[in-house]
Amino acid sequence: MRLRGRKGIREEIERQQELIILDPRELKGKWSEVFGNAQPIHAELGMGKGRFISEMSLKHPDINFIGIDMYDELIRKSSEKARAAHGKESEQGAIANLRLLLFNIEHIEDAFAEGELERIYLNFSDPWPKKKHARRRLTHRGFVEKYIQILNDKGEIHLKTDSQILFEFSLNSFADMGLRMRNISLHLHAEGIHPDYVMTEYETKFADKGMNIHRCEVVIGSQALEEHLAALKKQQSL
Ligand SMILES: C[S@@+](CC[C@H](N)C(=O)[O-])C[C@H]1O[C@@H](n2cnc3c(N)ncnc32)[C@H](O)[C@@H]1O
Repeated sequence: MRLRGRKGIREEIERQQELIILDPRELKGKWSEVFGNAQPIHAELGMGKGRFISEMSLKHPDINFIGIDMYDELIRKSSEKARAAHGKESEQGAIANLRLLLFNIEHIEDAFAEGELERIYLNFSDPWPKKKHARRRLTHRGFVEKYIQILNDKGEIHLKTDSQILFEFSLNSFADMGLRMRNISLHLHAEGIHPDYVMTEYETKFADKGMNIHRCEVVIGSQALEEHLAALKKQQSL
């Protein structure tokens, strides 16, 4: 068996320029051109081994997906998973509605222009449980301000985590910023996992152990907020 060293992994991901983007700064403001259409763009920040982004991109061809992680090996694994999921189409090189970015989320505003994304998924982000590391949590105000900048009028953030510490911190962070949350759940799979539901690797691991998955959606964009409030009003008048 041939073992891949760090150099081998880097060479492997460098060969996949149609799918893997190593310097997304160059493409800031040009993502619609990259995909060749004006479909909405959803990004998963910290995609790990890429199961979620692979399956979502297969299931929703009318949406463009971007998976981001900062480790070569995870990008390589994600590309393998994506190609396996997309089968024949991916053998040509590119997958029409998917790109994988090797990038540090701390600089997310350098990769996307104002209003370029429609949805951000934060799936099982590192919880950084020690208080002194709170600024590193991906739902810290410093990060959320950047997300608001790059999300469009329909923009939303969807958060899932097993960590009570991260979940409580995130709800407080969103509330302190005056953001509107909806569909808050402390036990997402209480009634079992729906067969159509797209799970992440970590979600499967934690759900199998019987742990509760927490979830919420944050309504960011003006149009998304208007629609949400109209739906609430309608519900209340029933
Ligand atoms: C706990 S894993 C979750 C992976 C996946 N979303 C899932 O649910 O299975 C968190 C991922 O976020 C990535 N990550 C953490 N901080 C990051 C950062 N600043 N920039 C890019 N990726 C980051 C890690 O490399 C890791 O793959």
